[in-house]
Amino acid sequence: MKSFPSKPWLLPQPVLIIGTYDKEGKPNAMNAAWGGTWDMHEIVISLSPHATTDNLDVQGEFTVTFGTAETLVAADYVGLVSAKKEPDKIGKAGWTAEKAPNVNAPVFKEFPMTLECKVKETLNRSETGYMLVGEIVNVLCDEQYLAADGQPDVEKMNLITYDPVHYGYIQLGKTVGRAFSDGKQLK
Ligand SMILES: Cc1cc2nc3c(=O)[nH]c(=O)nc-3n(C[C@H](O)[C@H](O)[C@H](O)COP(=O)(O)O)c2cc1C
Repeated sequence: MKSFPSKPWLLPQPVLIIGTYDKEGKPNAMNAAWGGTWDMHEIVISLSPHATTDNLDVQGEFTVTFGTAETLVAADYVGLVSAKKEPDKIGKAGWTAEKAPNVNAPVFKEFPMTLECKVKETLNRSETGYMLVGEIVNVLCDEQYLAADGQPDVEKMNLITYDPVHYGYIQLGKTVGRAFSDGKQLK
């Protein structure tokens, strides 16, 4: 086995797109890879200071959607450019923002599935950022991405994962097994 010095190489990493409104109600989005589930109804994301964190302080609500092969270029763009520098960031990304039904934050129509979230708490706040804990109050899924059983069909979404080793985006593939089930054969 080859050893590497300590790296944040938890795999696979998500491509989260955080949607917020600024104090004037203008939509913004940023890319975040350092996030995950916290509890059954909560997510946690590690954030440095951004236009997004300013917006979170004002609004206390946000959306989280997931990068796809189709949205990859603009998803990377919103991770490269700050709304502090580019007033037309969402226009340049080419995304259509609509107000989310349950929170004061934008839903970007180009994405299959979106979490509507409220800021529950912020942990370890310092000048370098904080851990955002968000309560998921609702999940939206475009009907064209539903499976026959009416649940979101992850396989249909062309989701991408962030590769922190080579700074890549990798598209997810096919279902290869059943969780809480396939392991039973070894019991
Ligand atoms: C692949 C990728 C992953 C990123 N992950 C994070 C992250 O987890 N936390 C963070 O604070 N910034 C992260 N960023 C940086 C922000 O997305 C970036 O600074 C963005 O321009 C902030 O936009 P804003 O100032 O308009 O909010 C990431 C960027 C990329 C490209």
